Amino acid sequence: MELFLFAIAAVIIPGWSMNVTDSPGFDLFFTSNLDEMVDVPIQFEKPLPSWLKGILIRNGLGRFEIGTRQFYHSFDAFGKLCSWKFWGNGSVTFSTKFLQSDSYKASVRSQTIAPYLLFEGVDPPFNEIEKIIALVRGIDNMNVNVYRFYNAYHHQYQYVALNDYWKVYGFDPKSLSTFKSINTEVPDGTSDSSLAFLSFLSSAHPLPEMGTTNHFTFVSSVSLVPGVKSNIKLIRIKSVMERELVASWSVDKVPYMHSFSITENYAIFFASPFYVNVLKMVRYAEPFNCLDWNGDEQTTIYVVELRNGIVHSIKTDNVFTMHHINAFEINEDIVVDISSYPSPDFVKNLQVSILRDPQLRNSFDVRALVKRYNINLKNNTAMFTLFDSTPEIPFSSKIDMPTINENYRYKKYCFVYGVVLKTDDLELSRIALVKKDLCNMERDKQWSVPGHYPVEAWFVQAPGAKEEDDGYLLVPVLDGERRQSYITIISAKDMKTVNTAYLPTIIPFGLHGKFFEDII
Ligand SMILES: *[C@@H]1O[C@H](CO)[C@@H](O)[C@H](O)[C@H]1NC(C)=O
Ligand SMILES: *[C@@H]1O[C@H](CO)[C@@H](O)[C@H](O)[C@H]1NC(C)=O
Ligand SMILES: *[C@@H]1O[C@H](CO)[C@@H](O)[C@H](O)[C@H]1NC(C)=O
Ligand SMILES: [Fe+2]
Repeated sequence: MELFLFAIAAVIIPGWSMNVTDSPGFDLFFTSNLDEMVDVPIQFEKPLPSWLKGILIRNGLGRFEIGTRQFYHSFDAFGKLCSWKFWGNGSVTFSTKFLQSDSYKASVRSQTIAPYLLFEGVDPPFNEIEKIIALVRGIDNMNVNVYRFYNAYHHQYQYVALNDYWKVYGFDPKSLSTFKSINTEVPDGTSDSSLAFLSFLSSAHPLPEMGTTNHFTFVSSVSLVPGVKSNIKLIRIKSVMERELVASWSVDKVPYMHSFSITENYAIFFASPFYVNVLKMVRYAEPFNCLDWNGDEQTTIYVVELRNGIVHSIKTDNVFTMHHINAFEINEDIVVDISSYPSPDFVKNLQVSILRDPQLRNSFDVRALVKRYNINLKNNTAMFTLFDSTPEIPFSSKIDMPTINENYRYKKYCFVYGVVLKTDDLELSRIALVKKDLCNMERDKQWSVPGHYPVEAWFVQAPGAKEEDDGYLLVPVLDGERRQSYITIISAKDMKTVNTAYLPTIIPFGLHGKFFEDII
């Protein structure tokens, strides 16, 4: 009887006849984990090299609901930091803590998700008054990345948690305790009334300025006054509090941008036709539903000269990107590599209910494609080339969450390490870590274990390294079968595991992080 019902269901419910293995434990990526701990020793299988000294700190998702209210979109889950301290004497300790943002504290206090501006919204929804409160309070959940900025006056680094917004949260890298939110004044350079603009969209991926301790980021100022144009500003971060305007240029509509590129002399932005709709924003208070994708429009590439702030604008075919990989100058050209998509449609599908459901999460395309743009300022053109995958690794060019050997930033380089979802083109949860060689694809390599789910890798260069890939990748992995996370050390040369340590907990889906070498 049961078999009979099953057979009927397979015929009448679309998708049931597809082969879906059950991807054990994948849902733990999108399940709240309230565990917090500081400096719990973890045990690697083999001795560690003594030069491996520093702290890997990562940001990501931690909590998907509070009380009876839940987030729709995974990007809204409350931020949770985790860290691995490599003491340099063979000991490693693990820590994890929620970012104690104002929105998190208010939500825990009220035992429901408190009204703050979110990517998508909550179920049950905010009422009209809560929506206004959310608009006024703005975005507060910095769950995407961590960074540190040097403060030359105090001769010290300040560590911050970031999202795609101007506001950041300071935190202590040793204890992962949250300090406070920092919302510095946007350096303006004009007499524009700041009330005429909403200046909060920025980047979770600042980039270092070559030869200095400064960084660059951008901020988009959305005009609220009809007839007044919006603008994008390139900003030099001299320290968390000290920011300087490098260039500002007007745009008809403000594009959503997540990252950008820097070379020795230029900043490069890909402004896809994915625009912030101000009227919708004020009406619905949900930024993501207030972005309009104009699939038939071209993408504009803005190239800013760092020396003088001159902005060049170049049109190219429609393309969408979340992550720039690296950029460098060669001869007359600026070369920019990105993880590209034909549209931002996949982002819509990253809702919690979709990601937890095998049928739904396997039904959309999530794979990126590495594209190289050669930008020439003499004739104002941008030409792109695609990278092929190898016959052995038919997904090796489909990476996102790219990282590189940071010593090769701004330089001609070969290797990018990235994550590929849906490697078999069927199941989103089939995840590989790929080493893509942009110089010679015969050297492409991959790391994957069935039922294990890796996130973004961080490359740590070995002492005395001669080659770009002399070093280790530090990669947190969810072992779905065992329902436990571990950290693995992978040799970047051959993409083989060299050492592994299980953690006393599960880390829900992690986004970005960094290894800070000189703080232990
Ligand atoms: C299901 O699995 C079988 C055997 O592994 C395979 O031959 C078939 O093509 C798969 N069907 C789908 C829809 O993937
Ligand atoms: C390594 O150093 C840390 C910090 O000083 C210490 O707590 C730990 O016990 C040391 N481990 C070994 C194996 O000596
Ligand atoms: C622009 O200049 C570059 C470099 O000189 C060249 O490779 C490219 O073909 C030129 N493009 C056009 C459209 O002339
Ligand atoms: Fe990112």
